[in-house]
Amino acid sequence: MVILDGKATADQIKIEIAEKVEDIIKKGGKRPHLAAILVGDDGASQTYVGHKERACVQAGFKSTILRFPAETSEEKLLEEIALINADNDIDGLIVQLPLPKHINEQKVIEAIDPMKDVDGFHPVNVGRMVLGLPSFVSATPDGIMELISRYKIETAGKHCVIIGRSNIVGRPMANLLSQKSNPGDCTVTMCHSRTKNLKEHTLQADIIIAALGVPGFLKGDMVKEGAVVIDVGITRVKADTKTGFRLAGDVLFSEVSPKSSFITPVPGGVGPMTITSLLKNTLKASGN
Ligand code: GUN
Repeated sequence: MVILDGKATADQIKIEIAEKVEDIIKKGGKRPHLAAILVGDDGASQTYVGHKERACVQAGFKSTILRFPAETSEEKLLEEIALINADNDIDGLIVQLPLPKHINEQKVIEAIDPMKDVDGFHPVNVGRMVLGLPSFVSATPDGIMELISRYKIETAGKHCVIIGRSNIVGRPMANLLSQKSNPGDCTVTMCHSRTKNLKEHTLQADIIIAALGVPGFLKGDMVKEGAVVIDVGITRVKADTKTGFRLAGDVLFSEVSPKSSFITPVPGGVGPMTITSLLKNTLKASGN
């Protein structure tokens, strides 16, 4: 069994990106610039945006965080996005989700210039991704594809079972892994909360992507010997730690890992890879 070390892989990618940025600057090019909008004071969102800013600095990017109070109106937010869309110095823009309830998230996502949408959430980017055209692919699916690629995991002709049909993980993963590409060329089954006899599906899987957000959901008896297991779960569960919580994956690691050929841990698997995807997209948005 090989543990897919997302942390080490992400650190390596960050070094590669930092080298590219240094080279760009030496040649008189533009330093990539990511702007992040944060509305309200949700603890997890603040932490995530902090991680993204730190990664930008490590990669040699310029990073701007625009913070707004929770009661900011949708209109004001849309105005700010229009200003950033028109700002030639800013290459990429992300609006950290979730937004306060009075703001329509879809409207906000669609207000971002697709060329600056480094989260890959805009329908233009989602549509282009589905068609296999150049696009910004969202961070989690792109990070998983990169991890599979860097560990040279064979995917062609394999049966991949995805648990979860979210717009930001399950659906894009099903699309990417079924495309005529490497990684890709999988036969994909997408399972969800209404799937009957889920275990019958997972037992047939060469690759399982668990992205449903239920800690410890995938048990040892649901996995066939030698399967590749990718755990996308990052649920915060109460624990006796400094922060008062720990991150729990969707896979019961103690049972599943002995049966798997490759497996991602939580934390340190898919999570760190998502930030490097954001950096990759921002570098691309800057024209490099
Ligand atoms: N909230 C949780 N994940 C994400 C993400 O990838 N991008 C943004 N903008 N918000 C998030």
